[in-house]
Amino acid sequence: MRILSGVQPSGKLHLGNYFGAIKQHIALQEIPNAERFYFIADYHALTTVQDAAKLREYVQGVAIDYLALGLDPEKSVFFRQSDVPEVQEIAWLLSTVTGMGLLERAHSFKDKIAKGIKPSVGLFYYPVLMAADILIYKSNQVPVGQDQIQHIEMTQDMAGYFNSTFKKEVFVRPEGKLSTTPKVPGTDGEKMSKSYGNTIDLQASEKELKKVVMSVKTDSTPVEQPKNPETDNVFALYSLFASDEEKAALAARYRAGGMGYGDAKKLLLEKVVTHFAPYRQKREELLAKPDYVNQVLAAGAAKARAVARQTLDEAKQACGLA
Ligand code: TRP
Repeated sequence: MRILSGVQPSGKLHLGNYFGAIKQHIALQEIPNAERFYFIADYHALTTVQDAAKLREYVQGVAIDYLALGLDPEKSVFFRQSDVPEVQEIAWLLSTVTGMGLLERAHSFKDKIAKGIKPSVGLFYYPVLMAADILIYKSNQVPVGQDQIQHIEMTQDMAGYFNSTFKKEVFVRPEGKLSTTPKVPGTDGEKMSKSYGNTIDLQASEKELKKVVMSVKTDSTPVEQPKNPETDNVFALYSLFASDEEKAALAARYRAGGMGYGDAKKLLLEKVVTHFAPYRQKREELLAKPDYVNQVLAAGAAKARAVARQTLDEAKQACGLA
């Protein structure tokens, strides 16, 4: 079984990325009898990051963050998307069997335009490249967040169109695997997202974390009154880190009244700081070893490329290009 996922290097990673995707990617390393392919989707990022220095910085940042958070190159093939240019050829082949109507229904395309991103051809074609990412490695399982499920469904459709058009089972139908984490609220209570400017960044120093955690939006229930943990952002964030007992204990304090949100924020801050302390340490070490990081990516690319080459050859055979 092959598990595959990609992460876009479109800025600094935050708690939403971690709990929505990365944590699951790392945990899947413990599954026996499975291969894992994780890549940095730099071609995709180019639809929104159009500044060479920034793109390089973000790619390097994501590579270091994944390794610092526990990606083990012995257990996962870790690479940059653009180191396997064969994926672009597969994307083209898929585009020729895919109707425009399918892409016109993409939520993420519509959402991005609504946010003011200019609708380039690349942005429209994005799901085709993503399908190529998945299909070129004959991936079986694709762990993603809710916002990517439609892209997986499109990938299943494209695999079917190609196979049936050319009467050959070249591509394997992948399944999406949804992360079980509930929505991660940002500091303003909306979904945590770089484009909303409400993130708690993994790279933040303790001092920065303190400032941002203390700024999480709460209602104005006075200290002495009971509070509802189920509607509070601080509690929702705390729950991501806490054990069931810790959650129950804090919920009881909310309901009893007499506790201010400031106290809950202190507990949250402590969780964030201690949970990511080993990561911050490892990250510092890796920052001093750029050659090691590049070696890991190069070795991953070589493995990924061998698989990609084979699928591309089969696909070219099937459609008559070879
Ligand atoms: N579109 C994904 C995201 O923004 C990133 C991605 C690109 C991806 N290619 C992929 C995820 C293939 C899974 C499989 O999160």
